[in-house]
Amino acid sequence: MVNRFYNGPRSNVPGGIPPSASFLMQIFSVLQNYVFSSARVFPQRPLPLKSLMKLLGMLLFLLLSVNSFASDGYDLWLRYQKVDNPTLCRDYQQAFGQIYFPGSDPTRVAARKELGTGLSGLTGTPPHFQKTTHTSPGLFIMLQNELDKDLLNQVQADCQGLGPEGYLLRNLEYKGRVVTLVTANQPQGLLYGVFYLLRQLQMHQPIQSLPTCSIPRIGIRMLDHWDNLDRTVERGYAGFSIWNWHLLPGYIDPRYTDYARANASIGINGTSLTNVNANADVLTAPYLEKVEALARVFRPYGIKVYLTARFSAPMEIGGLDTADPLDPVVAKWWQNKAHEIYSRIPDFGGFLVKANSEGQPGPQNYGRSHADGANMLADALAPYGGVVIWRAFVYAADDPTDRAKQAYSEFVPFDGKFRDNVLLQVKNGPIDFQPREPFHPMFGAMPHTPLVMEFQITQEYLGFATHLVFLPKLYEEVLQADTYRPGKGATVAKVIEGSMHPKSHTGMAGVANIGTARNWTGHPFGQANWYGFGRLAWDPDMSSEQIADEWLRLTFSNDPAFLKPMKKLLALSREAVVHYMTPLGLHHLFDTGHHYGPGPWVANLSRPEWNPVYYHQADTLGIGFDRTRKGSDALAQYAPEVAQKFGNLATCPEAYLLWFHHLPWDYRLKDGHTLWDGLALTYQQGVEEVTEMISAWKTMAPFVDNERFEHVEMLLDIQLREARWWRDACLLYFGQFSRMPLPEGVPAPEHSLAYYQSLKFPYAPGIRPKWN
Ligand code: GCU
Repeated sequence: MVNRFYNGPRSNVPGGIPPSASFLMQIFSVLQNYVFSSARVFPQRPLPLKSLMKLLGMLLFLLLSVNSFASDGYDLWLRYQKVDNPTLCRDYQQAFGQIYFPGSDPTRVAARKELGTGLSGLTGTPPHFQKTTHTSPGLFIMLQNELDKDLLNQVQADCQGLGPEGYLLRNLEYKGRVVTLVTANQPQGLLYGVFYLLRQLQMHQPIQSLPTCSIPRIGIRMLDHWDNLDRTVERGYAGFSIWNWHLLPGYIDPRYTDYARANASIGINGTSLTNVNANADVLTAPYLEKVEALARVFRPYGIKVYLTARFSAPMEIGGLDTADPLDPVVAKWWQNKAHEIYSRIPDFGGFLVKANSEGQPGPQNYGRSHADGANMLADALAPYGGVVIWRAFVYAADDPTDRAKQAYSEFVPFDGKFRDNVLLQVKNGPIDFQPREPFHPMFGAMPHTPLVMEFQITQEYLGFATHLVFLPKLYEEVLQADTYRPGKGATVAKVIEGSMHPKSHTGMAGVANIGTARNWTGHPFGQANWYGFGRLAWDPDMSSEQIADEWLRLTFSNDPAFLKPMKKLLALSREAVVHYMTPLGLHHLFDTGHHYGPGPWVANLSRPEWNPVYYHQADTLGIGFDRTRKGSDALAQYAPEVAQKFGNLATCPEAYLLWFHHLPWDYRLKDGHTLWDGLALTYQQGVEEVTEMISAWKTMAPFVDNERFEHVEMLLDIQLREARWWRDACLLYFGQFSRMPLPEGVPAPEHSLAYYQSLKFPYAPGIRPKWN
């Protein structure tokens, strides 16, 4: 199969500095050879000046076009650029030039291929894969049960608990030489070990610092694609769906393999292919054949396929007149469907279900509970080892209580009532993937039910694929939040990995930001969010700073002069978007439907909780949603320690102020400003932070190829325009209620409120186009 990562154009800027000395040397030597060989072939006719000038011109053109051959981002963080430090490169060549890596199963074949490609790129020399250990290989990659006594004795104690996916890397003495060993219990562990090794080499780590033992802390680490069968993507901003349903199963796009490689390299082991607003057609035989073809591509990379199951499928594609989960005929229909799926895809992961949410059908249509629905599907999958991932993102049109409370109220009473193979998937916060939300109160509140963390990688509420926002900062904030359930230190990370109450299944899901864009994610920095999600799903306690460091090194450059300012920029980017969109705990101020740009004035949608006015509650007296005891009392859903902290104005972090409190415009913030002044100044701060990001990026030109540099530069300019738009539109709107002037330092808005309110975006991306 064509390996697209390495066939596409490459950056010719080893070390990141264009044009590099080595490239100049190459050109010089070409020139030298040409001149001398011409002289040899035509000894009586030295190269005429005109031809020499022409040749020089051509070479100059080549040189100048170096940057236009630059990376287009397709190869993501798997670039395998030649190591530009000659000593290190030699060390790598010596240590890893001869490899013993037996095994003919598809996973090891894939891992060997990756290792070959990676080392060829990194060292400039393809490694030799030895048939035996007699030829003194420097690198051994072997299952634990294949190790000879000598090797096994040295690692046996360290190998405990590696499980099916963990791996161990050690530098050992073997037959009088120092060798490197990567070992695991299963081929999948070896594949992860290979990706780990390649990552370290891409980051120019010395061989002595390679030893590690790594075991994923979360079992199901999956991407949720919100992709429709017509290739539109719900909340997708990077083109169309990468699944070419029309041409499957006949045409296997090489992208599918590269998708699997990229995911495996960060430990992702599951993919749900279709939109949670599901279409039952994907469960019909012709589509299952297509799914089977994708599963075949992903299998060597340890990635299981999941499908979204539309609850009414037995009626829509099965001809039944009900989908009542307690009807034995319905249960039988799902059992047969499970059998059909598993006979095609024996390692099928299971179903992801959005039921009785935003108009989707579900068990409540028949007066049954979520547990009734989930358990019926779970029983159908259980004989094959499949799971049901049931989404807790529910809020009802006819429920007048605070939307933030509804999921907890609906699900927590069912704790312990779900089958063992049911997991509940909970969004990180209680509303909907806002730039900042407090953690969802369900985390910690259902000790007997596995809760899957659902993050959004696609930037539905964070500026689409236009804004540079480093989401691992957001993920880390949520994962490290203390639920105090059952006591201090019970972070969200600990809850989902099951260390508070052990679980047979654990999971983390990320709503994918991937599309047909050549660079996969639209914004070149959207890749960092995919990468960071995967790394955190493997180790939810990893710091966002380490993720930033890794991703920047792998994707751009190892140069400290690049890394330091860029890590700062990434960390700043998350705060910036909160500041210019939804400061001080404001939320859901987005314009109707498409969620592009501000719409705090929207008040005319049929369901109250679809209107931004529902969330900010601004009036002449103040602003904010009172979720204390005096208000909706959503705080009561948290542990008392958390409720106390957020409920008390003296201890509530100002980042969550208006999420939990409705406060007068002249309320004094900690720095002495009135709430109105503080709000306006924070909007302004957000805009200034984008300006700072732009200035920082402009100094990065020497480290980045032209293509990506200019791409990001242009997107940052759009981001700045949109940040100003957010600031001006929101302050004009809220200013009508505060009736206070803008504080010093906040410029007058560019346009009138009426102008901002008149802006319409019927063709904004991320929603299904309406063609007429
Ligand atoms: C948000 C999003 C929808 C999506 C829903 C979900 O409401 O706007 O497009 O379907 O989340 O998570 O199910």
